Amino acid sequence: MYKLGLIGYPVGHSMSPWIHENLMKQQGVEGKYELIEIKPEEFDEKVKMLKTKELDGFNVTVPYKEKIIPYLDGLDQSARHLGAVNTVKLTNDGWMGYNTDGQGFVDSLRNRFPDIFHKGSQTLLLGSGGAARGIYEALMRSEITKIDVANRTTTRAEELIQDISAGISSQPLTLNQAESTLENYDLIVQTTTVGMSPGHDQMIMSLDHLTKGTVVSDIVYRPMKTKFLSEADKREARLHFGHEMLLQQAVYAFKIWTDTEPQAVPLLKEFEQKLKGV
Ligand code: ATR
Repeated sequence: MYKLGLIGYPVGHSMSPWIHENLMKQQGVEGKYELIEIKPEEFDEKVKMLKTKELDGFNVTVPYKEKIIPYLDGLDQSARHLGAVNTVKLTNDGWMGYNTDGQGFVDSLRNRFPDIFHKGSQTLLLGSGGAARGIYEALMRSEITKIDVANRTTTRAEELIQDISAGISSQPLTLNQAESTLENYDLIVQTTTVGMSPGHDQMIMSLDHLTKGTVVSDIVYRPMKTKFLSEADKREARLHFGHEMLLQQAVYAFKIWTDTEPQAVPLLKEFEQKLKGV
């Protein structure tokens, strides 16, 4: 009987219980996944209490992905590199922290568009927050060797590259520079919150320079098809959706906790129906 959960604030609208309960069914594993909402002022006290609850594992979401680290007994390579944790597992050595966001992104993308994973692919990342960092790190570990980063605050794009980049080619860009050179890229990844409900009529930049066949990804999953993806669709781009990443990062967390081989693809259609209904 696995005892799992999610800590964050707020967590009320999370899709994680639905995903993990379905993964338990798929893998024939018994357990519970509970939402544990922790107010910022109660963080220290509540996290110490969690240690006595003997959870087998839990996910960590906004705003605690960095704040949880001092309470952990070890970190995997990706979590250490990023300074952010989204999955914790109770092991014989204590609480171990992992980050499955970037790998979830890359593998869900690879499932759909394996052809873009090669040395010549030109990638553009939009945004420089925590999500962008996780995706940059995971893309860097793939076959892709060119990742430019455009951000509203260009110094943050410079910092991201300085902090994480190792052995690949990366240019920091302004949003305007990126907007006018979109035709140079094979993969464009939107990692900011721009376009998220209720701001669903917003777009980080125009896609006038986008060319047919480019893979365009948006990590926003509410709405499922953002304005950015709708405009990309009009230009005959190939679309990768935020909910695909969401499902895949959860599958990795589940795998870490249970040592099973959960599969995202059989759940995808039902997950899409579920997201449409909320
Ligand atoms: P997260 O950790 O969830 O990625 P974050 O660290 O707050 O969140 O980063 C949010 C990203 O969205 C940043 O790249 C931010 O740009 P700045 O670094 O310039 O703040 C970007 N962002 C948020 N609102 C934006 C907007 N209206 N236009 C352009 N970029 C925006």
